[in-house]
Amino acid sequence: MSAANNSGTVSEVGASQGRRDVSASDAVGRQARRDEVARPPSGARSEQSETAGPASGVPSEQSGTLSASGAGAPLLRISHLRKAYGSNVVLRDLSLDVPDHQCVALIGASGSGKSTLLRCSNLLEVVEDGQIFLQGKDITDPRVDGDTVRTTVGIVFQSFNLFPHMTVLDNITLAPRRVHGVSRRAAEADGMAMLERVGLADKASAKPDELSGGQQQRVAIARALVGKPLLMLFDEVTSALDPELVGEVLDLLAELREDGMTMLVATHEMSFARQVADRVVFLADGEVAEQGSPQQIFEGPTDPRTQRFLRRILDGGRL
Ligand SMILES: Nc1ncnc2c1ncn2[C@@H]1O[C@H](COP(=O)(O)OP(=O)(O)OP(=O)(O)O)[C@@H](O)[C@H]1O
Ligand SMILES: [Mg+2]
Repeated sequence: MSAANNSGTVSEVGASQGRRDVSASDAVGRQARRDEVARPPSGARSEQSETAGPASGVPSEQSGTLSASGAGAPLLRISHLRKAYGSNVVLRDLSLDVPDHQCVALIGASGSGKSTLLRCSNLLEVVEDGQIFLQGKDITDPRVDGDTVRTTVGIVFQSFNLFPHMTVLDNITLAPRRVHGVSRRAAEADGMAMLERVGLADKASAKPDELSGGQQQRVAIARALVGKPLLMLFDEVTSALDPELVGEVLDLLAELREDGMTMLVATHEMSFARQVADRVVFLADGEVAEQGSPQQIFEGPTDPRTQRFLRRILDGGRL
């Protein structure tokens, strides 16, 4: 059973690996729900807003809390970013906004810099030039603490990286208990709520190798969410999964979007980008070659590089 089937919110997604038909009423209902909820599971966004200020990693003298001074700014703004590995310039003068409560899909050929962009976005990579603003605050300021930024910007990778000797619940509660000093009781309550959220409460005592790949990835997502991030980065989170397991993870991502989570999702799953994302960004030659609504990008791409990329996808039967 998929996570979506448990909640009933986006049960049509994943019926065939993330594809769904979006009807007008579905779209209206979705918007209404997003307006109403507009926050991640367990009240995460509002709680984060209360705690994200001094803990945001942004020096307090810069102007108080993240949430207070970021009004009107996109949650994430990447401005003229440059990143090179030696002589290999991967990102050049790249600018991109991720507005609050939106799901932005990053697409592009292998090697186009999607993972690099995500890793720069939560300071896992050193940025050479340009700036990254989180709620209006420049997190590339050298005074900003990367570890603290990463408590605000969660990331999930293709590989689940769960500790095999620990139960699912222990995997999820490890960081809150060890890093953030949360009591076991409180961490486990939060952890169980998050497992409930991803449809895996009944697996709390299981070890990761007793779970399917899709379930393990959902645990990894729960682990990232339990830190109550403001922004979630997803890097090809279905790439390592058997085809029949892809849908349940995409269902979960679609649900998070419905809940109002702000997400930047690097993906080769064109059906997800087309059906679930609010905006699609096509990377090529280290820059944003083209961006727009899924309809604009998939039905009327104007940049020849986007056209060529989508032609290859179509020819490969992946769209
Ligand atoms: N740690 C690193 N050291 C050196 N070069 C790197 C490193 N990480 C990435 N690169 C290079 O940066 C470029 C972009 O890689 P990146 O992984 O960001 O691409 P991608 O779009 O995520 O590709 P894929 O779709 O295959 O995941 C590639 O040329 C890659 O070889
Ligand atoms: Mg990648």
